[in-house]
Amino acid sequence: MKSEFRNVTIEPGVMIGNESLDIKNNRRIPQTGVVHIGEGTFIGANTTIALGRNPDEPTIIGSNVNIAPLVLVAHSCIIEDDVIIHGGARLAGFVTVHKGARIGMGACIRNRVTIGKGAMVALGAVVTKDVPPFEIWGGVPARKLRDCEVFPPDPMDSVVRSGYSI
Ligand SMILES: CC(C)(COP(=O)(O)OP(=O)(O)OC[C@H]1O[C@@H](n2cnc3c(N)ncnc32)[C@H](O)[C@@H]1OP(=O)(O)O)[C@@H](O)C(=O)NCCC(=O)NCCS
Repeated sequence: MKSEFRNVTIEPGVMIGNESLDIKNNRRIPQTGVVHIGEGTFIGANTTIALGRNPDEPTIIGSNVNIAPLVLVAHSCIIEDDVIIHGGARLAGFVTVHKGARIGMGACIRNRVTIGKGAMVALGAVVTKDVPPFEIWGGVPARKLRDCEVFPPDPMDSVVRSGYSI
């Protein structure tokens, strides 16, 4: 399978396609999958996006995704369209972030966790469980803080309309 990048902005120092380590078993795992990145996506400086674990489980970054500097997206994550990931956030392997969700600065998301559509993860959160759609979760470990009132059809617009100070 071939990776495709169209109309994607990639800032300096970005690493796309690096391998990862199996921390439980203390070994390097060869990643044989690819990375797909959708149109209109922005990837901030010094961000790392790992290869997919294997050809059937690629790493997928959707369209119009905004990824700030210093983010880590590990192997086989699926980031759907219109997601915003703020600086320094780290997503472990096989994390799924559904459409329009927002991940706050420095948040850390456990492997195989799913962040629901339109949900928000607060800055500094450590997310160990699935976050349902349209909820805001924060803290260590993360818990529900409250509901998200506004579903963002356009993520940048939603920042203004929802009144979040992000
Ligand atoms: C989650 C967030 C949107 C909440 O903002 P808010 O609605 O204005 O919430 P408030 O500051 O009024 O706090 C409401 C409650 O949530 C708690 N809270 C807020 N942010 C929190 C966080 N990051 N982690 C844990 N708890 C948090 C507050 O302590 C407060 O608790 P209390 O009711 O027990 O006092 C905001 O804190 C946040 O994390 N924004 C993302 C910032 C970011 O990453 N910006 C990127 C800029 S580049």
